[in-house]
Amino acid sequence: MKRIHVPTNDAYDVLVERGILRRCGEILSDLIGSSTCVIISDDNVAPLYSSTAAQSLQAAGFRTEQFVFPHGEQSKNADTLMKIYTFLCEKEITRGDCLVALGGGVVGDLTGYAAATYLRGIHYVQIPTSLLAQVDSSVGGKTAIDLPEGKNLVGAFYQPDVVLCDPDTLSTLPQEFLIDGMGEVIKYGMIADAELFETLCGLDLQTIPQHFDDIIPTCIGIKRDVVGKDEKESGLRMILNFGHTLGHAIEAYYHYEGITHGCAVAAGMCLITRYCGNAEDWKRLCGCVERYGLPSDVPVPLNELLTFCGHDKKRSGNDLHYVVCDPIGQAKIRRDTISGFQKHFERTVCE
Ligand code: GLY
Repeated sequence: MKRIHVPTNDAYDVLVERGILRRCGEILSDLIGSSTCVIISDDNVAPLYSSTAAQSLQAAGFRTEQFVFPHGEQSKNADTLMKIYTFLCEKEITRGDCLVALGGGVVGDLTGYAAATYLRGIHYVQIPTSLLAQVDSSVGGKTAIDLPEGKNLVGAFYQPDVVLCDPDTLSTLPQEFLIDGMGEVIKYGMIADAELFETLCGLDLQTIPQHFDDIIPTCIGIKRDVVGKDEKESGLRMILNFGHTLGHAIEAYYHYEGITHGCAVAAGMCLITRYCGNAEDWKRLCGCVERYGLPSDVPVPLNELLTFCGHDKKRSGNDLHYVVCDPIGQAKIRRDTISGFQKHFERTVCE
């Protein structure tokens, strides 16, 4: 088992081990003295893994309840959140009980936000079952729901009690979700680990699963180093948003349909490197993302994307932060006015 300690204000461990899902009960009973665990999952993941989790929890003495909602980003909203609150009230869930987020990023974000707010905060545990959730969203305590006006607009930083990461659950992951998660894996190589990036350049979608036991803890370790120093994203944590300024603009342009987050981030990383980084790294990055079926560009006029960047709700006043990796493995945060940022795109540095 690999244990990665995350030194946030409420510190916790990420435990990575094949088959750890079957042992979740014994691990939680040592950590949390709860009487009831509420498994929250979606209708893709619950049929595959919730009975394994429930059996393990029951064998360890927990009462279990289960709330399942329709899969997909469209469920990450106030309506589903209200249904979760109602369910928790009906089942008389108290502050000493525990929510178990069993699924991908949507399940983790929604469950985490329910845990942060129900009774002003109850225990929760992340059991991520997608690559994206294992390497990124389950660690670091970002929880949120979407509003009709945009993604993740209501949320809280709220750390889980533990994250149990079982790479075996990735064996049932449809290929499009594997590709989606690879966008974030490549991001970790770009921002902090040139060696990881090189490794990724020598693998592909078929061969990478044999390397998950090393690659997943490597990504989590990078995230731990970042969020341990800047839990609330006042500085360093912004490097985790590499590729996301343009990536979010791409998602918004497509109305969050027909393009996954990972694909948008991959194209966003390539575009920012092309216009604000250096030509050689841009070409290497394009080659790497394409190995994993990710796009290195999108057929969208740049000026339309830049308009969306100007509306990014994460900007500070009239300025926005964006991240450039130059050289590969070293992220730098830049702050610029919207028009200053847009000027980079008027010149094509890498023809
Ligand atoms: N996914 C970026 C972060 O956790 O800050």
